[in-house]
Amino acid sequence: MTGNDILLWDETLFKDPSVLEPDYLPEYFPHRESQLNGLRFALKPALRGMRPLNCLLVGPPGTGKTSAVMKVFGEVEAHATGVVTVKVNCQIDSTRFAVMSRIYRKLFGISPPNSGIAFRKIFEAVVNFLVSSEKILLVALDDLNYLCYEGHANEVMYSLLRAHEQYPGTKIGVIGIVNDASDLYCLDSRVNSVFLPEDIPFPRYESAEILDILKDRVKYGFYPKVISDELLELVVSYVEQTGDLRVGIDLLKRSGFNAERRGSRTISSEDVEKAYEASKLLHLCRGISLLSGPEKHLLELIAKKGEIQAGELYKSFHELTQLGYTRFYGIVNKLQVLNYIDADFTGKGQRGRTRIIKTKFRAEDVLNCLKKD
Ligand SMILES: Nc1ncnc2c1ncn2[C@@H]1O[C@H](COP(=O)(O)OP(=O)(O)OP(=O)(O)O)[C@@H](O)[C@H]1O
Ligand SMILES: [Mg+2]
Repeated sequence: MTGNDILLWDETLFKDPSVLEPDYLPEYFPHRESQLNGLRFALKPALRGMRPLNCLLVGPPGTGKTSAVMKVFGEVEAHATGVVTVKVNCQIDSTRFAVMSRIYRKLFGISPPNSGIAFRKIFEAVVNFLVSSEKILLVALDDLNYLCYEGHANEVMYSLLRAHEQYPGTKIGVIGIVNDASDLYCLDSRVNSVFLPEDIPFPRYESAEILDILKDRVKYGFYPKVISDELLELVVSYVEQTGDLRVGIDLLKRSGFNAERRGSRTISSEDVEKAYEASKLLHLCRGISLLSGPEKHLLELIAKKGEIQAGELYKSFHELTQLGYTRFYGIVNKLQVLNYIDADFTGKGQRGRTRIIKTKFRAEDVLNCLKKD
């Protein structure tokens, strides 16, 4: 190793660190042309003063759903002064009051008075503003399933989608974002009969697509030659296991930190491997954070035991949540479909065949994610 290989204390491998931050909205956004066009098509009527089509974006974590909406919202706001866009993170704003307050803040630039004001008052202020200023509102409800857990999804959707019936002239388009179409189980028929969204699927990225996207981040995020092509392939192989791009971007950032910590000008395979221990949790924790309360309880019970018989698990689950067997069975199936658990029939129980349920991830990782939540 020559002196040149060693970083001086104030030197860095990162040309533009913001490129590797999770909330960075990249200029180059490939492999999502059809999804972007689907969104543009649905929202285009708003540019001509008409009510847009509603949309539903469905896809697993880290497939570009939120970013795609932010890109198209940016385009719409740049072209149409008569359209207001609002993105609501339902994980944070999970009641109808919080959702409407978020919209209010975007329209008026200030928070609504919070001392005991009724939802209806805020809603009326929003709608009256839209009608009198002839503006069209586009609302993206990101991680919409969170409104289901708190029981607010129907009220929120109903208020937004049927506003024009009560307040003629109101034009509102709703974009729902979820990981799985089954996350919308809680919507009732009154909502479904007016939501009628354009479905826009976001499939997992394939390895060539992941490579293409990460190459761009490497180009702008790091100085030249910080990471070799071979190591970038290693990063891609890690990302491919889940298709979650967030893991790839985080992995690049942490690998860079690890190399800097060693004072090296280049990232080594050990830097990547060490970083993966932390980055892989990002995917798991994001997925777990999206589960409902009872789903998290059940996963925790399984993780604490490592391996447990279905009957015994149901008993503990029922004691904890008071929920019955049908819900229990539904949640076991969901956790299995999402690949968090194995639930195979094995051997013989006291009364014939029995299911043994175990976590697919390291129990300690699952419990760490649940704790962070
Ligand atoms: N086609 C793409 N080109 C460039 N970057 C992308 C692309 N798709 C996703 N990304 C990046 O991957 C990360 C995850 O994307 P995003 O947050 O939009 O995913 P998501 O589908 O909303 O995930 P989640 O369901 O977990 O919320 C972001 O940093 C985003 O910039
Ligand atoms: Mg998202």
